[in-house]
Amino acid sequence: MLSPCTNVTRNLRMLPNGYAMLRARIIGTGSSLPNKILTNAELERMVDTNDEWITTRTGIKQRRIAAEGEFTSTFAVEASLRALEMAGISADELDLIILGTVTPDFPLPSTACIIQHEIGARKAAAFDISAACSGFVYGLSIADKYIRSGIAKKALVVGAEVLSRIVDWTDRNTCILFGDGAGAAVVDASDNDNGVLSTHIYSNGSFWETLYQVGSGSRNPATSKRTIDERLFYLKMEGNDVFKHAVRAMEEAACAALSANDMSPSDISLFIPHQANKRIIDATAKRLGLTEDKVFINLHNYGNTSAASIPIALDEANRAGRLSSGDIVLLDAFGGGFTYGSALMRW
Ligand code: ACO
Repeated sequence: MLSPCTNVTRNLRMLPNGYAMLRARIIGTGSSLPNKILTNAELERMVDTNDEWITTRTGIKQRRIAAEGEFTSTFAVEASLRALEMAGISADELDLIILGTVTPDFPLPSTACIIQHEIGARKAAAFDISAACSGFVYGLSIADKYIRSGIAKKALVVGAEVLSRIVDWTDRNTCILFGDGAGAAVVDASDNDNGVLSTHIYSNGSFWETLYQVGSGSRNPATSKRTIDERLFYLKMEGNDVFKHAVRAMEEAACAALSANDMSPSDISLFIPHQANKRIIDATAKRLGLTEDKVFINLHNYGNTSAASIPIALDEANRAGRLSSGDIVLLDAFGGGFTYGSALMRW
């Protein structure tokens, strides 16, 4: 029998030995979630669904929903402050702030600039990236490259969403899946073996029409009659198509990470995948040959929080004492675009 990963070789990007003198190392994590809990039982009263269907098809039991007056930046700022506190550094030491989100406060300015202002990161460059559920892994990959190149020393990488504002609460195919929240990580330049070993990020735009929200850009301005009449401001998804691609892509990204570092799945201490659907996570873990105790899952509590899902899970795992120095941690993401990718770290 082939061992996991031997049949997945496309797009491997090997890091030349000795190339990385510096690497990004996570020195603090934080997360923030709305107080309001929306349970499956409550959803039963909103659309034609039931707890049994949602639980068996997705693994989700409840999700958090932002209150009026709470925005993506509300949770992003709180998660960032918690990550800074754990890191023991002040905001004005940050060189860079990267926010992954598909639900920014506004199209302009970037929500990263709002974070920069509110936490007082006076010298940091700040920008948003739109990579859907892969936003945090994309952001960590960018921060790692800035640190390896010596341009930045300390960076803040955030994933934050208020998806409840773009979810169609009359569509049972999607509204049961998503939740709001934020997670953040402070990274510092490390010159030893601990930190990000490699990142691999990918996209496949030929599937963009399986998962989208197309109202309010230059094609369909928010004010246009078509955007309103055709309800284009809501998120739409072909769940089945996304599901199939997610499992294959997450396996590919995970295997790329392991191959680049000459490791096998048995080296992984903790696998932290994007929290979209328990069946996707289980199928990916099975393909990699990972046992349940090595897979971190919290989607029963929060649903799919897109770019926020991995950093929220990372923070929970960290604060629960699941990560020890030297552990090999694999982050693995997949989302609209399609975008996907992995980050392998020695904690
Ligand atoms: N309650 C009850 N029945 C439902 C519900 C619901 N909430 N939603 C759909 N159904 C019905 C369907 O209408 C269908 O009925 P039919 O057979 O009579 O037509 C039946 O259940 C099966 O529907 P499927 O869509 O085939 O169900 P599936 O097993 O594929 O599960 C799901 C759907 C949960 C959406 C799954 O496909 C999934 O998780 N997809 C991936 C989502 C994802 O990973 N997204 C990641 C990125 S998100 C981002 O980037 C922002």
